[in-house]
Amino acid sequence: MRVVAVMNYKGGVGKTTLTANLGAVAASRGLRVLLLDLDPQTNLTFSFFSIDDWHDRLKDNRTIRQWYHGEMPGREVSLADLVVTPERVNKVLTNTDGRLDLISSHLGLIEIDLQLAARLGGTTLAESKRKYLDLHGCLRSALEDSSFSQYDLVLIDCAPNFGLVTKTAIVASEHILVPAKADYLSTLGLDYLAGNCADLVEEFNDYVNHKPGTADHRPIDPSFLGVVFTMVQVYAQEVIFTQHGYIQEVRLNSRVPVLQSTIRNSPRHFGNSGESGVPAMLRTTGKDEIVREFDKLADEFLGALALASGDRSE
Ligand SMILES: Nc1ncnc2c1ncn2[C@@H]1O[C@H](COP(=O)(O)OP(=O)(O)OP(=O)(O)O)[C@@H](O)[C@H]1O
Ligand SMILES: [Mg+2]
Repeated sequence: MRVVAVMNYKGGVGKTTLTANLGAVAASRGLRVLLLDLDPQTNLTFSFFSIDDWHDRLKDNRTIRQWYHGEMPGREVSLADLVVTPERVNKVLTNTDGRLDLISSHLGLIEIDLQLAARLGGTTLAESKRKYLDLHGCLRSALEDSSFSQYDLVLIDCAPNFGLVTKTAIVASEHILVPAKADYLSTLGLDYLAGNCADLVEEFNDYVNHKPGTADHRPIDPSFLGVVFTMVQVYAQEVIFTQHGYIQEVRLNSRVPVLQSTIRNSPRHFGNSGESGVPAMLRTTGKDEIVREFDKLADEFLGALALASGDRSE
């Protein structure tokens, strides 16, 4: 099982669209995929479930909010009990071995983030370090449960922030994928984002290495798979000049790697994201440019995770 956090604390850069479509394409290639919606905006969840369905079946007892709620995440409900199988997308996947499951989010997750942060600290240094590790490492520990070993890939859609819930996702992930727009402010923040992740890793590992109390955690080493440029403007088969410049600048001068694949701006495909419960890349017939781009991205992404079909048949 590979766990990948799709994160960027810049908002509206295509994290959710990428998570939904990449997860769907991976499932259509025969992988068992679990999507985890950690954003209180609940957009990934609503990309697969209608609002009515979510209200009737999920809102009260099957969202990640229940899991994070309480003294320590996971004490009141097990993560595995929150997994649901969205019907509409899985109907499209019937001719593969792949499937797509989801753990739904909840608007109330925004308060949970603050409550979790308030639980950090303790009367002694050892106690506060143990709480730090238990809270930051909670999602990682939960995903180690054997019920998740049935999945090939877990994709975590993070909120556009660097709050405690997002940090639990980074600690739980072996890899980080960073969707970004090719503009000045978006590219400016990428090194800063990588620096913040590196600080979190260093702090977590520092606490692990000092083994406070009874906490049982191992060091983490998430790798940056890279930046995926999304909503790229293409004109006459070329990325427009200014955006090409920003992408090159990050390729040459940033500490974060950049994936070869880019995803173009296509309101025609993504303008009504979520409405049908089936991500655009599974709805689109014919080989138009954006389907080819997503296929290429899936090749690159799954290849880097050793989950491409050639890797798995070995
Ligand atoms: N390649 C694309 N072409 C056109 N529109 C897109 C594309 N990707 C995403 N969008 C649209 O851009 C908007 C933002 O995308 P999305 O919700 O995926 O970003 P996000 O990073 O998850 O946002 P947030 O930070 O709020 O969670 C949405 O309306 C989505 O439909
Ligand atoms: Mg989002």
